[in-house]
Amino acid sequence: MKSILFVCLGNICRSPTGEGVLQHFIDQAGLTEEIEVDSAGTIGYHTGKPADQRMIQHASRRGYELLSRSRKVAAVDFQNFDLIIAMDRENYKDLLTIDSQASAKVYLLSEFLNDSFPADVPDPYYGGAAGFETVLDMVEAACPSILQRLMEKQD
Ligand code: 4NP
Repeated sequence: MKSILFVCLGNICRSPTGEGVLQHFIDQAGLTEEIEVDSAGTIGYHTGKPADQRMIQHASRRGYELLSRSRKVAAVDFQNFDLIIAMDRENYKDLLTIDSQASAKVYLLSEFLNDSFPADVPDPYYGGAAGFETVLDMVEAACPSILQRLMEKQD
């Protein structure tokens, strides 16, 4: 079993989208039993909450179901997951503060994208519809490479 964790700030917009969209790609590829997907936030402010309704709506229009409940990232996650994907550079920095050894398995989502995309997945929380679409565009574009990287990992 391989495993991947998406991490953003609140775990109600960007990382739940990573979780839901990659799960869709995994299911389509017939790999449901081989890969575990989860998401978490660097803050615990929204703990227990489902994804933001706006994010759920935008994802649903593209055929993705977001089923996450918000939780804060924990030190044990660095042992339990093969790959950890940070949505922006602040998330990345915060993850390395929790575990300075984490850099071996922590990546920025944009490392799986070409240079036409920005380095950070912009936080859509305080903005309008376009921000949620950008999250989906970036996550969708990164998922094939992320899935490939996961399948290359030996276990
Ligand atoms: P996310 O968006 O990190 O993509 O889940 C945010 C959601 C909530 C907050 C910040 C970012 N907040 O500060 O409440």
